[in-house]
Amino acid sequence: MKKQRAEAISFANGGGRQTQKDPVLWNDWHVLARSSDLLPGTVLKVRLLDQDLVLWRGQDTQILAWDDRCPHRSVRLSRGTVVENTLICSYHGLVYDQTGRCIKVPAHPEYVPPPQACVLTYQVREQYGLVFVCLGQPEQTIVPFPEWEDPNYRTFLCGPYPCRTNGLRAIENFLDAAHFPFTHTGILGDPEKPTLENYEVTTDEQGVRLHNVRVWQPDPAGIGQADYVTYDYQVLRPLTAYLRKHMLDGQILTILDLVTPVKEDECISWMLFAVNYEIADEDARAFQETIILQDVANLESHHPQQLPLDMLTEFHIPCDRGSLAYRQWLKKLGLTYGVLF
Ligand code: FES
Ligand code: FE
Repeated sequence: MKKQRAEAISFANGGGRQTQKDPVLWNDWHVLARSSDLLPGTVLKVRLLDQDLVLWRGQDTQILAWDDRCPHRSVRLSRGTVVENTLICSYHGLVYDQTGRCIKVPAHPEYVPPPQACVLTYQVREQYGLVFVCLGQPEQTIVPFPEWEDPNYRTFLCGPYPCRTNGLRAIENFLDAAHFPFTHTGILGDPEKPTLENYEVTTDEQGVRLHNVRVWQPDPAGIGQADYVTYDYQVLRPLTAYLRKHMLDGQILTILDLVTPVKEDECISWMLFAVNYEIADEDARAFQETIILQDVANLESHHPQQLPLDMLTEFHIPCDRGSLAYRQWLKKLGLTYGVLF
C-alpha cells in the first residue's frame, strides 16, 4: 500500500521534480480560504509553501485540496470545471473523481485509466469558517480557540490580509509591543510614552509565552478610551500565535493569528478575533484592518525577508526577549523554511 502511494506521488509530481520540504511546516495545518469562498461548484487556485494547489467543492462533497496539475499533460487543474462531484480538466477533458483518480477519458470511452492516473491529494479540514490544508501528515490538531464557542464573547473572522513578507516575520511582529507607539501612533501607542516594562518569557513543549506585557494605549479597544493594557501572548505553532489583551473594566480582546506561508517572502494573515464587550462588527473589522495596514509597510521592507536564527545577524534590545525566545524555539524545532542560519 505504501509503495503504491509512493509511486503515485512520483507520477503526480512529474517524475522527478524535487521540492525541499520543511517537515515542521509541511506537517502543520495552514489556512487557504474561507469556507464561504468555496460554494458547491467552485474551483480556486491557491499557493502554499511554494506549491500550487487547487481547492474545489462538488455538489455534495467536502472541500478538496489537490496538486494544481493534471497528471496527463501537466496543465493546471484550477482551469478545470466541476461537474457534479468530479473535476474535469480543461485540456483533454479527463474526468477526476473525489479521490483524485481519473475515471473517464473522453477520447477513449472504453479505456480504463491506470491506477497511476491520479492527482496528488492533500488533507483538508474546515474549522472557524476557514479551510485548513496539510501538505504532509498532520502531527497535531488545528490550534484551539476556545473563545470562538464561548457565549461571553463576540467573535469576528478577519482577513485575508496578504503581505509580501515572510510569515515568521509577521508572527514576530505580532509579538512585538515595542513598535506600537511608532507604527500604531494614536491607537496602540504613544511616542511620548514608549517605555516597555520587563515582562516574563517562558518556553516549553507548547511553545513560547510572553506574560504581562504592559503598555499605554490611546485607543486599545477601538472605542476611543485611553488606558494601560496588559498583553499575554502564546506562540503555539511556528506560524500561529494567540494574544489576550486585558483592558480597563475587565474588557478582554483575544486574537488567534494564523499566518499562511505562500512562499518565503509572501504570506497571508487570517485572524480570529473575540471580545467580551460591545463593538459593532464593522468597527471591529475596520479597527483590525487599520492596524494591519500600518504593519504592512514595515513588514514588506525587511531585508533579508528570512528570519535570522543566528543571533548575531541582527542586534537585540532588552524588550526583544520574546522574539529571541521565538527564534530559539524555531531553531530547536529544526525549522528550515523562511529562516537564515
Ligand atoms: Fe489534463 Fe490532458 S492535460 S486532460
Ligand atoms: Fe503592529
